[in-house]
Amino acid sequence: MKWVLAVVGLGTAVIAGLAVVLWTGAYNVAASDPHWDVTVTVLDMARRRSVAVRSAVVRVPPLNDPAWIEEGQQTYEEMCRACHGGVGTARSSFAMGLYPAPPVLSAPSFQASLTDGELYWIVRNGFKMTGMPAFEVVLSDEEVWQLVAFVRTLPGLTRGGSLGGPGRTRAEGSP
Ligand code: HEC
Repeated sequence: MKWVLAVVGLGTAVIAGLAVVLWTGAYNVAASDPHWDVTVTVLDMARRRSVAVRSAVVRVPPLNDPAWIEEGQQTYEEMCRACHGGVGTARSSFAMGLYPAPPVLSAPSFQASLTDGELYWIVRNGFKMTGMPAFEVVLSDEEVWQLVAFVRTLPGLTRGGSLGGPGRTRAEGSP
């Protein structure tokens, strides 16, 4: 019985301690004040699992239709480029102040880290407490898939710089 009291006492002390930290404003909510490494690790794991579980039921359509890729590129320019950078164009300067920072979607590490279904789910639903919006509010299902189709072509386009114009490749200072 004593251990039950000890656990309850400890729990109450932790909750009271947290309440004091929050109420006194000791926790810094500034985007300019990075999380601890352990917080980043835990949040990242929670995010990866949350997306993996929720996107597992998504059925991926064929993504190689050139018309879809072209439509997806137009939507990307309009809705994504400012934060994530485009082909031969860097992210907008304001995006550097976002925390967490928007990743460069042409990077091989990013491309390998998500399935097509996960990519679709993220674009539709966004992420809480970050700058990543839920695009289901403005884009149809088909438009989101067109974006996925285009995002998958980014590494090839970025290497060749074909959309950014001659000489405007990543190697020369783009994202
Ligand atoms: C206002 C800025 C902003 C816009 C606009 C935006 N994003 Fe994001 N996006 C973010 C941020 C910030 C993150 C990082 C969230 C994180 O790391 O938790 C992110 C994350 C992502 C991720 C997940 C990356 C990963 O490593 O898991 C994908 C995919 C993505 N965005 C795609 C898009 C696409 C496609 C569009 C356009 C339809 C778009 N985003 C528009 C800010 C933005």
